[in-house]
Amino acid sequence: MKHVTTLEELTTALAELPRPIGFVPTMGFLHEGHISLARRASEECASVVASIYANPTQFAPDEDLETYPRDIPRDKAMLEEAGVDVVWIPTTEVMYPAGYQSWVTVEDVTKPLEGARRPTHFKGVSTIVAKLFNAVRPDKAYFGQKDAQQAVVIKRMTQDLSYPIEIVVCPIVREPDGLAMSSRNTYLNAEQHQAALSLSQGLKLAQAAFEDGERDANALRQIVIDRVNAEELTDLQYVSCAHPDTLEELEGDVNRCLISMAVFVGETRLIDNVLLE
Ligand code: PAF
Repeated sequence: MKHVTTLEELTTALAELPRPIGFVPTMGFLHEGHISLARRASEECASVVASIYANPTQFAPDEDLETYPRDIPRDKAMLEEAGVDVVWIPTTEVMYPAGYQSWVTVEDVTKPLEGARRPTHFKGVSTIVAKLFNAVRPDKAYFGQKDAQQAVVIKRMTQDLSYPIEIVVCPIVREPDGLAMSSRNTYLNAEQHQAALSLSQGLKLAQAAFEDGERDANALRQIVIDRVNAEELTDLQYVSCAHPDTLEELEGDVNRCLISMAVFVGETRLIDNVLLE
């Protein structure tokens, strides 16, 4: 696996790769969720490029950019093992050189849910992903369903800006106890980890109710709220039952919906979701 830093090094490395090229953008401190994206890319594409960059513009000033976990040697070993051909680890001088002032903004689908609580987040995400796409020019790009709204935003941007890239959204990978894999899980102590299981358990209860015929959006939301609030260490930020494509909040009977949520466990903000259809 080749490791490149600058745009020039990346362009030289890309010239040698057979197409189709699959691309897996990451912020590092990889887990099985990321590796499932790399493996899928490696199954579906002739070459795989991954990037590792903790993009500062998608973190608010009070968020965890400074403490975001990092382990580049371990990340590189995991990517190589998963079949990645080139890993691009740019510096901030490469991505946001002095004088930088251009942004990509996606409108309606960035407004609710995560966007309502993290108002600058998606402007950072869409801008960095557009810049990564421009540099890597992949045929396919792989994202996790764990960040459900991010996947919707990236699909919208890819279509709106006419990128000739297929966006592949891969299923959430969970710990054996149900906790959705996240680099931020490393912040949780044992007691907090236990309380954090209420997210996936709440979603499972809502899914079971849906399968038993419950269709009322409020009732589905309430099942998740009740399970999370039964834990002392959780502080629920939101539970949503929204249209999976527009992310508009739903009322009354639903046939297809994305139940998503954000919960603080101590200082750690966790998200999770399930698609019911
Ligand atoms: O999902 C992530 O890890 C990040 O938001 C991404 C897509 C790599 C952009 O920085």
